[in-house]
Amino acid sequence: MPSAIVTGATGILGREIVSELSQHRQQWPTIHALSRSKKEDYADNVIHNHIDLQSSPDEMANDLKNVRGEYIFFAAYLAQDKEEDAWEVNGRMLSNFLSALEKTGAVSDVKRIILVCGCKQYGVHLGMPKQPMTEDLPWLTDTSKWPPNFYYNQQNILHDFCKKHNKEWVATYPNDVIGFALGNFMNLSSAIALYTLVSKELSGNEGVTFPGSPAFYTKFDSFTSSKLHAEFCAWAALEPRAANQAFNVVNGDVESWQNLWPKVVEYFGGRVKPDQFKDAYTSGGVGSSLIKKVVGKEDMSSTMEMAPQPPISVVADEIGIQGTPALEKNAVEQHVDLIKWSQRADVKAAWERLAEREGLDKSSFDKATWAFTGFALGRNFDLVISMSKAREFGWTGYRDTWASLRDVFEQMRGAGYLPKA
Ligand SMILES: NC(=O)c1ccc[n+]([C@@H]2O[C@H](COP(=O)([O-])OP(=O)(O)OC[C@H]3O[C@@H](n4cnc5c(N)ncnc54)[C@H](OP(=O)(O)O)[C@@H]3O)[C@@H](O)[C@H]2O)c1
Repeated sequence: MPSAIVTGATGILGREIVSELSQHRQQWPTIHALSRSKKEDYADNVIHNHIDLQSSPDEMANDLKNVRGEYIFFAAYLAQDKEEDAWEVNGRMLSNFLSALEKTGAVSDVKRIILVCGCKQYGVHLGMPKQPMTEDLPWLTDTSKWPPNFYYNQQNILHDFCKKHNKEWVATYPNDVIGFALGNFMNLSSAIALYTLVSKELSGNEGVTFPGSPAFYTKFDSFTSSKLHAEFCAWAALEPRAANQAFNVVNGDVESWQNLWPKVVEYFGGRVKPDQFKDAYTSGGVGSSLIKKVVGKEDMSSTMEMAPQPPISVVADEIGIQGTPALEKNAVEQHVDLIKWSQRADVKAAWERLAEREGLDKSSFDKATWAFTGFALGRNFDLVISMSKAREFGWTGYRDTWASLRDVFEQMRGAGYLPKA
């Protein structure tokens, strides 16, 4: 029976991979969970090992003396402000880790390496890609148009390593992950929950407003449950046909915020403000740019332009869209800019009140990922990600997005991050 090595074992995606594998002890009798910190107790088929992926291959080889496995799941990640730094840091963490496996000799046991990437692969952070996003879309490697993408660096490092050692690889592309990790507030679900709770505290019966782009509200989005992603990784490790392939990994349902937002607000006991976008549009109506000027009130909106050329431009000739508005640059339009909002005195006071009353960890508000959540909700284009390739290869997994979001809220309640009732 095979052993597994999971890096990023305390992260949103890695933690679920450890949990998923550990529940199938016949299949996975030994799982080496690697990270700098250890945040929880594990099942007895999991061995936690300290590793600092920013240390040298020699130092890592020392940490990995007793770590061997046939299947490696690389889910470690260090966020950086600049894409150039993300390329450098995350690329080096992977290549030094692989060098350490060469040094200890553990490489001889390895059969397949699963690398967790994401839909930044398609430039979802730069503007609208061709839709639906499929794994055969060209990489955005023209650095005169787009910043370097660390997933390309990591995948190239992995491909070269596997070629050199005659090993197999898989890359996964999840999007807008819905998951939970102890002590980790850097995720979409916790920021959405905190925004909704505090907005309800402030607005009373007036209703809660969707903070993202009014245009995006009625467009499509694709989400990944971290649990489903973990099941996918376990499947992709052992499925012979999945060797040397990259796969999108999203829930497989059709979703949008117009459908999810009322459910989120209702879950926290509130209601959506009926005219939540009243001030958002110029006379052009839905689809026009976000211009919010509320006389006598502070303007809480923001608009940030994305890359001059959206990713779809890479296939403009091929699909015949030259000279059309599809090639105009996109924007992140926040109806309520979450950074500005989170710094407001009345918002902070409402949070203090709520946290005090409910016995919550007050620091979670400052740790919440307001910038990332504002960005994820503010994009003004569809995000439709195809699961056809994985299905063709035999994958049958699926999750309902609202059910996975509600599940994460329940876990956060259980951990004392959100009010119990
Ligand atoms: N979260 C999302 O919404 C999302 C969406 C799409 C794609 N992705 C991609 O999925 C991958 C995993 O992201 P994630 O969101 O799961 O990350 P995360 O929650 O931030 O977790 C990162 C993990 O990496 C570990 N790590 C960081 N630096 C380390 C170091 N120097 N040495 C050892 N371990 C280190 C952390 O553990 P310690 O701090 O304990 O060491 C933690 O376990 C990334 O490539 C990310 O881009 C994420």
